[in-house]
Amino acid sequence: MKQEEAHVGALSTFDAGVMRIVQVGRWQVGILRGADDVVHAVLNICPHKGAPVCRGTVGGTMLPSAPGELIFANDGKVLKCPWHGYEFDIETGTSLFGITRGKLRKFPTEVRDGEVYVKI
Ligand code: FES
Repeated sequence: MKQEEAHVGALSTFDAGVMRIVQVGRWQVGILRGADDVVHAVLNICPHKGAPVCRGTVGGTMLPSAPGELIFANDGKVLKCPWHGYEFDIETGTSLFGITRGKLRKFPTEVRDGEVYVKI
C-alpha cells in the first residue's frame, strides 16, 4: 500500500516531551517531539483494549530493583496508557516488561526545513 505524507506543523510548535494529537486523514495520531528533536508519530489506539493511548502520560518508568530500592529511568521515552496503565516504549512501540504482546502502531516521520511530516 502506498504511503501518503501529511504535514502536521512546524517543529518549533511542538514542545519537547508533550504529546499532541492531530488528525491525519481518518487517523488520530499523537506527535511527540523527543528531547533530541526526534519526532515520533503514534496511532492513538492502545494495542491492549483500544484506549486513546496518546492521551496518556509521557514520562519514565520504574525498573525492577531490590527491595527498598527505587530506580526511575527512561524519562520522556515511555507512554503510559490512561485506561490500565500499561507502559510502552515510545521508540520501539513495545510494552515494557512484555505485559502485552501488542505494540504501538508508529508511523515514519520526517523533519524538512523545520516542518514535520508523517507518512501514513
Ligand atoms: S487499553 Fe491501554 S492499557 Fe488497556
